[in-house]
Order: sequence, then C-alpha cells, then structure tokens
Amino acid sequence: MHKTNKYITEDLKFSKQTIKEMKINSKKFYENIKNRRSVREFDKKIFDIQIINNALLAAGSAPNGANLQPWHFVIIKNQKVKNKIRKAAEEEEYKFYNKKASQDWLNALRPLGTDPNKEFLEKAPYLIAIFEKKYSLSKKEKIKNYYVRESVGIATGILISCLHFSGLAMLTHTPSPMTFLNKILKRPNYEKPFVLLVVGYPSKDANIPVFAKQKKKLKDISTII
Ligand SMILES: Cc1cc2nc3c(=O)[nH]c(=O)nc-3n(C[C@H](O)[C@H](O)[C@H](O)COP(=O)(O)O)c2cc1C
Repeated sequence: MHKTNKYITEDLKFSKQTIKEMKINSKKFYENIKNRRSVREFDKKIFDIQIINNALLAAGSAPNGANLQPWHFVIIKNQKVKNKIRKAAEEEEYKFYNKKASQDWLNALRPLGTDPNKEFLEKAPYLIAIFEKKYSLSKKEKIKNYYVRESVGIATGILISCLHFSGLAMLTHTPSPMTFLNKILKRPNYEKPFVLLVVGYPSKDANIPVFAKQKKKLKDISTII
C-alpha cells in the first residue's frame, strides 16, 4: 500500500456498534427499503431542491473506480425541458412497443402494464438524468475512467435509497436509445445516459403493480459456502 495520502483509522468515522445494534439497524434499513416501489403516476407538488442535492451528495460518495467519480447528474425542473424530454422519450418508446421489442420482452413487461405514454415525464417535479462518463476532461485533456458502469450503478443505488429514505418516490426510466438526452441537455458525446430518474410524490391514485412487490426469497438469491 502506498504511504502517501494516508489518513489514520481515528479519522475514518467508523461507527462501531454492538451485535445487537447491528441486527436492529440492518433490519430497520431492510424494513424501510423494502417499501420502495417504482411509481409511474406523480403529483405535481414540488419540494425543496436541497433534498435532491443531499441525495446527489450521497450518490457522489459512492465507491468507484480509482476515485475518478465517472458520473454527471442533470437535475431537470424546467417545464419546457421536461416537455421536450417527454416528446423524445415517447417517440423511442412508441418504436420500442410497436416494432423493436421482442415478444419475450413484451411478455415480461406485461404485468407492469406499461405503454409508450410517459405523462410522468412532464408531471413529476424533478427528473434527474444520470450520465456515465467514459472520460473526464482536465485542461481539455481526456482522462480515461475505469469501471464506469459499475461505479454509476452503485451511485445510482445510493441515490435511490437516499430519495426513498427522504420520503420521495421515483421511477428508473430507460427509453432506448437515450441519446436524445445528450442533445436536449447539451451533454458531450463522451457522456452516455445511464438512467433517467423521475422523482416526486406519488399521485393520490397511483397504481402500483402487485407483481413488483413479489421479491425472491433470500435462499433464492444467495448461497453460503
Ligand atoms: C435499469 C432499470 C431500467 C428500468 N426501466 C424502466 C422503464 O423504462 N420504464 C418503467 O416503467 N420502469 C422501468 N424500470 C422499473 C422496473 O420495472 C421496476 O424496478 C421493477 O418492475 C421492480 O419494481 P419495483 O421497482 O417497484 O421494485 C427500470 C428499472 C431498472 C433497474
């Protein structure tokens, strides 16, 4: 291990807990996070952007390849920009549902009841476009990033957890392709849209597919050796 840039364990702010506390806290986290559901009908009600900023800071603290932090988040609150995104996303989604998607894929999506209509893109108070950065720019020089997808995936998981923990609902939306986001949001071509996160309060009559609640059992997703 390099001796440079080290800092001592005392500064680590590692909170040592008793086994009892660890059991309680892990259970508490699970009991909270298991109630996160993807929401597709949002209320127009806005909320303080500081909540989004805190969630982005949490996301930005994620483990990532060589600490190069290969992500960029665009918060969209401007109605005209949201309208443009809805129009472009629906064009792609229409092609997906009517031409591009395989029958198997459409069958897998059926229980969710989704279709090309993406009203939530205009209604939700905030959208967050998450970009993976293949490169970062430093003094006009391109610096290669490593483990970009893995890093952005982990950061997105932390972002989603923080938003849920803060009392917000969201949807991970991925119209394909999403290159229209580069154009509308004026992002360079070495940034690739990862997901579009729709964030807000669920509308009063938001319909959540029962199917989404059915999660695999521990024994089906893990093994101990
Ligand atoms: C990478 C990714 C892409 C997704 N894309 C879409 C999407 O484009 N449209 C949509 O309605 N849901 C999308 N979802 C949401 C999933 O359908 C949802 O997470 C899944 O059905 C489980 O439901 P839950 O999130 O309520 O647990 C996506 C989720 C992930 C992780």
